[in-house]
Amino acid sequence: MERIAEGIYREVLGTPETYVPTNCIKREDRREEVNRLDNSSRGLAEKLGEKLEYRFSGRGMTITLPMKTAENIYGFGLQFFGINSAGKRRYIKVNSDPVADTGESHAPVPFYVSSGGYGLFADTFRYATFSMGTVTSRGSSRGMSEENTPHKEFSETAIYSLKKASEERKLIIDIPHVKGVTLYFFEGNIMECVQRYNLFSGGGVLPPAWGLEPWYRLYGGCDEKKAEKMAKEFRDEGFPVKVIGIEPGWQSHSYSCTYKWSGLFPDPEGFISRMSRMGYRLNLWEHVFVYPKAEIYDELLEHSGDYEVWNGLVPDLMDERTREVFKDYHGKQFIDKGISGFKLDECDNSDYNPSNWSFPDCSEFPSGMDGEQMHSALGVLYQSLIKEAYEERGTETFSEVRSSGALASSLPFVLYSDLYDHKKFITALVNSGFSGLLWCPEVRDCKNGDDLLRRLQTVVFSHQMLINGWRIPNPPWKQTDIEKNLSGIDMPDAEYYTNECRKLFELRMSLVPYMEKSFRKYKETGKPPIRALVMDYPDDSNTFDTDDEYMFGDELLVCPLTYEEGTGKEIYLPKGQWEGFFDRKIYEGGSRFRMEVPYTMIPVFKKKD
Ligand code: GAL
Repeated sequence: MERIAEGIYREVLGTPETYVPTNCIKREDRREEVNRLDNSSRGLAEKLGEKLEYRFSGRGMTITLPMKTAENIYGFGLQFFGINSAGKRRYIKVNSDPVADTGESHAPVPFYVSSGGYGLFADTFRYATFSMGTVTSRGSSRGMSEENTPHKEFSETAIYSLKKASEERKLIIDIPHVKGVTLYFFEGNIMECVQRYNLFSGGGVLPPAWGLEPWYRLYGGCDEKKAEKMAKEFRDEGFPVKVIGIEPGWQSHSYSCTYKWSGLFPDPEGFISRMSRMGYRLNLWEHVFVYPKAEIYDELLEHSGDYEVWNGLVPDLMDERTREVFKDYHGKQFIDKGISGFKLDECDNSDYNPSNWSFPDCSEFPSGMDGEQMHSALGVLYQSLIKEAYEERGTETFSEVRSSGALASSLPFVLYSDLYDHKKFITALVNSGFSGLLWCPEVRDCKNGDDLLRRLQTVVFSHQMLINGWRIPNPPWKQTDIEKNLSGIDMPDAEYYTNECRKLFELRMSLVPYMEKSFRKYKETGKPPIRALVMDYPDDSNTFDTDDEYMFGDELLVCPLTYEEGTGKEIYLPKGQWEGFFDRKIYEGGSRFRMEVPYTMIPVFKKKD
């Protein structure tokens, strides 16, 4: 094993592929910062290396590592179904509809961190499967002699309860197609490993302050005049919206894209400057699939994959010429004209949608990448391309993306999803911090005003405060019912919800300087600004599976409620004294307690010591 920095080791097994994350994603060298971190499990990586086994087969390669019965495993990117992966299988495949707990996600990452004192990153774009203690090898149960315990009711639960693993477990990584892979080992406790992984990825991103202020995406069908009218209303009604997002209607053809303004926006330059005079930044929706009417189509034809998506080209984002064409076009047409960022949609594959929604895994790209590799790489390559386009013009962006993956911590993009389960959105927020990702549990449509408040509270305490009104012409605080919103009918209690929502916007504004501080730390030390409790309290078993509370910066602990949970919740505070952020009461940590929480309030606690 080769030591590449304090607590980071590299192990090359067999002959790795050319297209792997470390070769395709540019990263700043942060070894100096890594060397400054604590390392609470020095020497462990080399010990693990001695126990590591691997073999090749017609299928690809398999790596086996020991796993203790009590070991907890976290990571694997943006996961929606809980935080602890011990006893589970994680299939690292990009999927825009992660409807089951398989590991598939908008942003799966082949990195995990173990409570056993190490983290592991498998440097591959292949759809790898990690089995964490779900397999035992032949003969390891020999000699077992337990008998079924009599149970009253003959149920699946009763039978499965006998199956709790007590035998020696193994962690297996199954990587198809490859003749080798490089593994990176990170030493330390959970926090130290995550910090090392983030610094190895180039450090955490530090968004510009404006990116942390509130965002609002306008109705997809709105034109220039309606957009300006709404922007003016936000100002008149005291909503401190900073970034306005324009949805697909701004393009002359979208799905696939022309990247040209449509008739709804006859005077784009005037529009941009009028919005800027009102203090707004603009963000444009797009995806990477290039429609034949796009100016860059002909030039990209030879630099694209061999299948189309929605009649559009799938540009080879590994190809230098493609990157130049895209950067140049975006630079001249949008960045130079004052557009602050983009929403990079639909780059997250899809297995369930009808039509040619995405390209097949067997696609071939001129660079030599295949469809499987491109699916895993597309999100990060697209983000880095846009990031570079801004950097080359001496400016910066803070944008959105629907797919990400390995080594993404320094990319100024926030993930979002079309799934809309509030509980799962909170779990994804808690998980994002294990894998160098930013996530927005965006507010879109809501069941009613109280559901709106609950969702807005979560988004206030997230990486990006965004309301995505792409399906509604009027703000949700006026009307949450889509049909009525489309007809312009306000809710009877619109004034009440408008006032409560405004307060949450103001709350977010007051948090921006504190958030900037947390992000600065993220950049310099790799410590994520939003973290699962187990990262800060690794010895407290109450935190091991907690997926609905999180640390927000160094001082605040947040416990969002969903509308379905109503107005009461059982809360756990780790040992120590905590002060209610709003009620200023002192809470003694170390136990669970039930708290009554009206819809207008979110439980947030400030660490006292
Ligand atoms: C979806 C995206 C939505 C919205 C919509 C517009 O893919 O997730 O937020 O932008 O496209 O067509």
